[in-house]
Formats: sequence, structure tokens, C-alpha cells
Amino acid sequence: MRAKITGTGFAVPEKILTNADLEKMVDTSDEWIIARTGIKNRYIASEGEYTSTFATRAAEKAMAMAGVTAEEIDLLIVATVTPDFPFPSTACIVQNNLKALKAVAFDISAACTGFLYALSIVDKFIRTGSIQKALVIGAEVLSRVVDWTDRNTCCLFGDGSGAVVVESVTEETGIMSTHIHSDGSYWQLLHQPGVGNRNPASVKVLEERLAYINMQGNEVFKLAVRGMEEAALEALSANNLTTDAIDLFIPHQANRRIIDAIGKRLGLNEKQLYVNLENYGNTSSASIPIALDEVIRSGRVKEGDILLLDAFGAGLTWGAVLIRW
Ligand code: ACO
Repeated sequence: MRAKITGTGFAVPEKILTNADLEKMVDTSDEWIIARTGIKNRYIASEGEYTSTFATRAAEKAMAMAGVTAEEIDLLIVATVTPDFPFPSTACIVQNNLKALKAVAFDISAACTGFLYALSIVDKFIRTGSIQKALVIGAEVLSRVVDWTDRNTCCLFGDGSGAVVVESVTEETGIMSTHIHSDGSYWQLLHQPGVGNRNPASVKVLEERLAYINMQGNEVFKLAVRGMEEAALEALSANNLTTDAIDLFIPHQANRRIIDAIGKRLGLNEKQLYVNLENYGNTSSASIPIALDEVIRSGRVKEGDILLLDAFGAGLTWGAVLIRW
């Protein structure tokens, strides 16, 4: 049994925040942001829009492409670090929105690697014959945990969701292997200090701005390049392939310079690399499924193509998934 992606979809808010808008909010410039990150625009959720809003819309599009109805879904996983609530899970909210009443629904937290963690879990469920059809969703509203007075982080992140339908097939196509890793010794490099139970909601959390992303960008940058290169090579080696076999490399979209550094280390050419971060910024767990939907709907991927998905995020977490489309 193989797990095969049969539908993809994504959803983002309507509101766009440009680098010019950010110039009016903090001491930054369009030139600095483009040169240091490659980002031009990001989508920002409006009042009344939540992580579950975009997750539901993305899932509906993925199910429509797959020709699968919500009642057929056995397992629904939402990867997110910006859930609607600490509990219940955003997956349960999405289950209710979709009326996917048969599904087991839960969230997983692995930051920007979340979508690949979730895909890996679903792959195991399908390979063991436990389930037939799953929805895997990466969804974030990071704009509500970004400190809009901190120029070091506020230009990096955006909101949105990407989703895939994964089905059990007996063909030789689909997910070839998944490889996921964690190293908690680096947890402090990228974290949100409040509002968990170490720093519960309080005046102190507000005054010390603890409810926002705290990141040591330079350190994360170096470890991201190393971790993503390692995971990519591990996935290729597990399938006796070399980098020339990759038709499309879809990395987590955090920073153009991170992607270029990995591309260079792996010896990939421009045609093999997919980059869309100029339009979305870093949407964490949503970035890979958004990119995947773009390349599928634009016809860039043909049957039999080898796709390598590769991610890195807070935790630290990292991983890769190799797919024969
Ligand atoms: N505008 C202007 N200047 C800025 C800005 C800005 N928006 N942000 C930082 N600077 C300044 C800094 O203050 C610093 O000034 P100083 O030298 O006077 O102190 C200078 O630019 C250089 O700062 P660095 O942090 O060294 O800049 P760097 O080139 O490393 O770029 C960045 C910073 C973009 C954050 C980069 O380190 C990066 O992308 N790191 C990885 C972050 C990442 O991918 N995080 C997400 C991981 S995924 C997840 O799990 C969410």
C-alpha cells in the first residue's frame, strides 16, 4: 500500500501587507527586506478570520480536486503553531466545519516542519492499512503572534493554509519515504514565550511582549541550511537516488537566501527549485502545501515526476518527504 496525494488546495486572506506598508510601521526598507529575505508581500488575516477559516477553505479545494467528500475522510490532521484555541484542537473545528464526521481529528505542533510531520504520520497509517483517506492541512495565522514593533521578525511572516488529500493506492506512485527529526536542545532559538503555562496570560505578558515570536535569526539560519541539506540527502539516499533525479525541489519558504544556500549545496539548478516566498512570506506549516498546490494547478508537475519536499522549523524540527507524482 502506498499513500498518494490526490488533491491539493490553498487559501489565503484577501488583505496584502507590502514592504512599503512595513516601512510605515518600523525602521526598515523595501530594499533591506528583499535583499535579506526575498519577501515582497504577505497575506494578513482580518478580524473574524482564524486558522480554521483558511484550513477549511484549503481542505474544500483539495477535496474537490480529489473528488473525495468529507464523509469519506478517516483521518484529519492540522499542523499548526497558531491554533484557534489551546483546546480543542483546530482539527476538531475544521472537522465540524467540513462535517467530516467519521474522521479522527487532531493537531500536531512541529512549526514549519509541521506539514511534513503530518504527512509522515498519515503515510504510516496508510501503509499499515489502518485508513484509506486522509486530509493533511498546514494552517497558520502568524500575524497574531508577530510583534509588529520588532523589525527583526515582523517582515518575515504571513498567514494562510495549504491542504492535501492523501489516499491509499496499490500503484508504485505516491509517497516514497518520509524522514523527520527533532533536536529540543535548540528550543530557545525560536519560540513564543507566552501564553502557555510558563507565562500564562497576565499584565506581565503584555508589558514584556511575551506573547510574540522570539527568534535568534542568524543561528536559525545556519541550522536551517544544515538540517534541510541533511534531510534532503537522507531521503535521496534511502531511495538510491541522486540530486539529478529531482524534478522539483519544494523547500519550506522562510528566506530566499536559505533556499539558495541549500540549492547550491545540493547542486540544484534554477529549474529544479520552487520559490514563491516573495508573495507569501513565511507561512510556517502552510508554506509547502501552498507551493505544492501552485505547481500542481499550473501544470508544472507531470505524472512520474520526483518531488522532494524539505522543511525546517522551531523545536528544532526538520525533515524531508520524497514523492513520485
Ligand atoms: N530592516 C532593516 N534592518 C534590519 C531589519 C529590518 N527589517 N531586521 C534586522 N535588521 C538589522 C539588524 O538590526 C542588524 O542591525 P545591526 O547590525 O545594527 O544590529 C542587521 O540588520 C543585521 O541583522 P541580522 O540578524 O544579522 O540579519 P540577517 O542577515 O541574519 O537577516 C533574518 C535576518 C532575515 C531574520 C535571517 O537571519 C533569517 O532569515 N533567519 C532565519 C529565520 C527563519 O527562517 N525563521 C523561521 C524558521 S521557520 C519556523 O519555525 C517559524
